[in-house]
Amino acid sequence: MLNIVIKPIEVTQINEFEWTGGKTHLEYFKKALEKTKDDEILFLGAWLEGNAVGRCGIDFVINPGKATLWMFNVAKDIQGQGIGSKLMDQAEQEILVRGIDEIVLNVEKANVRAQALYERRGYIAMGDGIESWEEDGPNGSTVTYNADVVRMSKKLN
Ligand SMILES: CC(C)(COP(=O)(O)OP(=O)(O)OC[C@H]1O[C@@H](n2cnc3c(N)ncnc32)[C@H](O)[C@@H]1OP(=O)(O)O)[C@@H](O)C(=O)NCCC(=O)NCCS
Repeated sequence: MLNIVIKPIEVTQINEFEWTGGKTHLEYFKKALEKTKDDEILFLGAWLEGNAVGRCGIDFVINPGKATLWMFNVAKDIQGQGIGSKLMDQAEQEILVRGIDEIVLNVEKANVRAQALYERRGYIAMGDGIESWEEDGPNGSTVTYNADVVRMSKKLN
């Protein structure tokens, strides 16, 4: 059993999460982390022996009345060992204490393992959509990535 510590990520800890993506992603992550001071967003991090190994973001504003889970990942070497489930357990607790009873997320259609994890946890597919974000492109440019996603939802409690 891994000794995982789950706690909110502070803006000053962004360097510990460089493994989560490239320059464009980290700039986006930093902006999102800055919104945690207004309680619009909460980022939970997972640490193993002092190393940051997982992260998930919860946005309390983008879908009014609902909590939106995004930017969820666990370091590649230690996926499949329960860290993601621990992050989701804690995220659901944090959402409930704020009096919110629905959690929504988008998952890429091709990401069948993540979808299976969500379904096991009681998430239901609500339809399809496109989610777009900026990524590093060639020669320091950025490119827009358009993902085909399934929208999923879970009622809490
Ligand atoms: C999805 C993810 C955050 C889950 O974290 P985790 O620590 O691996 O999750 P757990 O160990 O608690 O649960 C494992 C389950 O997650 C799912 N899963 C999704 N992607 C996985 C991966 N790359 N490796 C292992 N399990 C994965 C599987 O359903 C797995 O169950 P299984 O072992 O029966 O196949 C993590 O695997 C990850 O970072 N994947 C790549 C990024 C991603 O897909 N993020 C979600 C975007 S919506």
